[in-house]
Amino acid sequence: MADAVSTPLREEKVAVIGSGLIGRSWCMLFACAGYKVSLYDVDPEQVSRALDDIRVQLEKLQEEGLPRGTLSAQQQLDRISPVGSVKDCLQGAFYIQECVPERLELKQQVWAELDSQVSGDVILASSSSALLPSLISEKLSNRSRFIVVHPTNPPFYAPLVELIPAPWTAEDVVPTTRTLMDCIGQDPIVLNREIDGFVLNRIQYAIMGEGWRLIRDGIVSVADLDRVMSSGLGVRYAFVGPFETAYLNADGFVSYCDRYRDMIYRVQRSAGDPELMDGDTMERVQSGMEQVAGPVSELDSRRQWRDRRLLGLAKLKRDLSEK
Ligand SMILES: NC(=O)c1ccc[n+]([C@@H]2O[C@H](COP(=O)([O-])OP(=O)(O)OC[C@H]3O[C@@H](n4cnc5c(N)ncnc54)[C@H](O)[C@@H]3O)[C@@H](O)[C@H]2O)c1
Repeated sequence: MADAVSTPLREEKVAVIGSGLIGRSWCMLFACAGYKVSLYDVDPEQVSRALDDIRVQLEKLQEEGLPRGTLSAQQQLDRISPVGSVKDCLQGAFYIQECVPERLELKQQVWAELDSQVSGDVILASSSSALLPSLISEKLSNRSRFIVVHPTNPPFYAPLVELIPAPWTAEDVVPTTRTLMDCIGQDPIVLNREIDGFVLNRIQYAIMGEGWRLIRDGIVSVADLDRVMSSGLGVRYAFVGPFETAYLNADGFVSYCDRYRDMIYRVQRSAGDPELMDGDTMERVQSGMEQVAGPVSELDSRRQWRDRRLLGLAKLKRDLSEK
């Protein structure tokens, strides 16, 4: 959560393209930090739904005494303007955050349109989860301004943002974007070069792959596998990552390697090949999750349950002055 220092009402404007789950989160993050935000979606009803949802979320945060920054819910809402065209959205913006669905052809098409309407130093940021920035931006005339800025879902409670430049991204784009992310209370990391899946999803998919094999082979139930994270690894990962864990679990990292490298290597070598997630194991995970998280028809209440806990964790981290 951003520190409760006085939040300035800034004159600079951010353009958000796409008002789904991620677009509305970006709107809140920029508005909470005092930026003006223009929101465009190809489906105008989506924009209305997004504004309703943002209002509910901001008011709830205010009621619970957990707003980001010092602006009231109404002041934050007033920073967000729905617009009916791409042109109006981009007008005067210093930064564009694109949040359209994760399909390469669609992203390329949307960026071709945005590219034809921008000039100067505007930063062109995509929220893509895994598409390589070079593939999205290779044909853009302003491709030196392009970068992927990948948030963690839900961005309002999980501040990590991955910054992934394309090979042709200009030198100033990463530091400027990093400063902007710091300013809105997010926690940016920088990839030195692009790689499929970036870092967060590569790690997430490695965990999922091993979990899949353990469930497939009948070693552990679906519910117990998830508890390895929620009651075990995840608890400490909320504060220290795997390498700091290792560093602390011995007398430094060299000592950890001396003690455990052979065992770790043996176990790592025993992991199987990746498998397409399908068939009987997929059905078992689905029914296991129905037991844990309830039926698909009631996912909203489980999401609210999750978000309340993430909010509590964010509050704890804020009280401890940690991101
Ligand atoms: N959902 C996540 O967990 C998550 C996390 C991190 C990043 N992302 C990435 O963020 C991006 C958006 O994901 P989302 O979950 O918000 O998707 P979403 O489907 O919830 O929202 C996408 C929005 O884009 C709009 N849209 C479609 N075509 C458009 C166009 N041509 N112009 C303007 N708007 C258009 C849709 O109407 C919709 O409102 C994707 O690239 C996704 O990979 C998602």
